[in-house]
Amino acid sequence: MLQSPAISVATSYCPCQGKVVAIRGSVVDVHFSDEVPPLRHLLRAGPQAQIAIEGLTYLSANLIRGIALTPTQGLARGARVIDTGQSLQVPIGEHLLGRAFNVFGDPIDGLGPLKGMKRSLHGQAVPLHQRTTGTDILVTGIKAIDLLAPLERGSKAGLFGGAGVGKTVLITEMIHNIVSRYDGVSIFCGIGERSREGEELYREMKAAGVLNNTVMVFGQMNEPPGSRFRVGHAALTMAEYFRDQAHRDVLLMIDNVFRFIQAGSEVSGLMGQLPSRVGYQPTLATELAELEERICSTAHGAITSVQAVYIPADDLTDPAAVHTFSHLSASIVLSRKRTSEGLYPAVDPLQSGSKMLTPSVVGQRHYQVAQAVRKTLAEYEDLKDIIAMLGLEELAQNERQTVYRARRLERFLTQPFFTTEQFSGIPGKMVSLDQTLTGCEAILDDKCSGLSEQALYMIGAVDEAELEHQEREAQEVEEIGQ
Ligand SMILES: Nc1ncnc2c1ncn2[C@@H]1O[C@H](COP(=O)(O)OP(=O)(O)OP(=O)(O)O)[C@@H](O)[C@H]1O
Ligand SMILES: [Mg+2]
Repeated sequence: MLQSPAISVATSYCPCQGKVVAIRGSVVDVHFSDEVPPLRHLLRAGPQAQIAIEGLTYLSANLIRGIALTPTQGLARGARVIDTGQSLQVPIGEHLLGRAFNVFGDPIDGLGPLKGMKRSLHGQAVPLHQRTTGTDILVTGIKAIDLLAPLERGSKAGLFGGAGVGKTVLITEMIHNIVSRYDGVSIFCGIGERSREGEELYREMKAAGVLNNTVMVFGQMNEPPGSRFRVGHAALTMAEYFRDQAHRDVLLMIDNVFRFIQAGSEVSGLMGQLPSRVGYQPTLATELAELEERICSTAHGAITSVQAVYIPADDLTDPAAVHTFSHLSASIVLSRKRTSEGLYPAVDPLQSGSKMLTPSVVGQRHYQVAQAVRKTLAEYEDLKDIIAMLGLEELAQNERQTVYRARRLERFLTQPFFTTEQFSGIPGKMVSLDQTLTGCEAILDDKCSGLSEQALYMIGAVDEAELEHQEREAQEVEEIGQ
């Protein structure tokens, strides 16, 4: 009969020493002849102990399989491995503000090393009785989001979209709009995305003078899967310090959570686990929940999180997207069709939504306007096939009216961004919720019928279109007079 191996595990720190017996990419098997270190301990290997390995599973009584958090180049079979006696630790404290770190909590901004407290990145989620929920709305100044998918302060929101539909632009714009007015701390976590984008964001935040209230943590696409898999936890550990010890509100921005899932899938494959649905790791739901469940609010402080989520092949039923959806209280879905029409931000009004969008939270007026906008756009969507086959003329008068309003609403919900100012040439605009509601009401009540569709495209509040229209009319009258 097969028996599970009796494993003797070191309970207090002992510098267990082992030897590398196998290396497969980022996966390293280490043999310990005496005591075996507990799982999730950080092991170090290499001539300068520069290779970090996290123990993930026991293969036998003396064999531990771990994932390297650094590149494994130069590591050979037989190399000495030492147990550091603890799991991966990252620095915590006020002095982190204004700095940029990697997964180990080592500064990568060239401003010198840090001293001070450290904490393991394997924290526990807050128990149920300590959690709090609120009904405060975090205003972003972006029309489509504030109207159709308002963000909840102290909760999680996702920006879902396929490749190149504007997730990074939108998250950067939100940082621009929210961080300067936010009295808490902001933490940006880059997971598996371009290093260039991280560097640009760092520079922009510095130029905008908000870096002193921000911590940045990066595990980008050039890093090993182990690093991308753990960098989210590192950022979250820092966020938890600000919430629990400093009693401050935290804004946690993540780009991109899908890369965390993808790194988990890579790790799982390398570890030899059988893949599950669509090739993802069987532990997808658990891994994601471990990270997402730690992002919550307590009586001491709130963590509000905005996360970009890449959708493979634009398929919203992809397991990674489905699992992420279920953790979030607001989902902003970006559509490729809208980007092809130049309707930026490409927020899909029918797929995006928020748990906050109820009359008791946002108020009767906001709720009714949002419902009317959705209804008009949904009816327009249904009429599109008829228009394509038979033409607009075949529609009944009331249907034509719907099309007329919907096309104006679609254009009014576009917005020039500060982030895209350099290449679009249009100055960025922030719009208050009241201005957004007023504009939508005017279009729904046909008060903008004198305005062309184009006049509502890429503007802020609706008055801008009216003002421009009046100026143009005055100019035309002048030209006729001459
Ligand atoms: N609001 C916007 N206004 C104008 N152009 C935009 C806007 N959003 C996105 N774009 C255009 O789309 C391009 C891709 O945007 P972005 O990098 O944000 O996509 P992404 O969804 O993050 O892509 P990836 O999945 O590759 O990370 C931008 O470089 C820009 O040209
Ligand atoms: Mg991106």
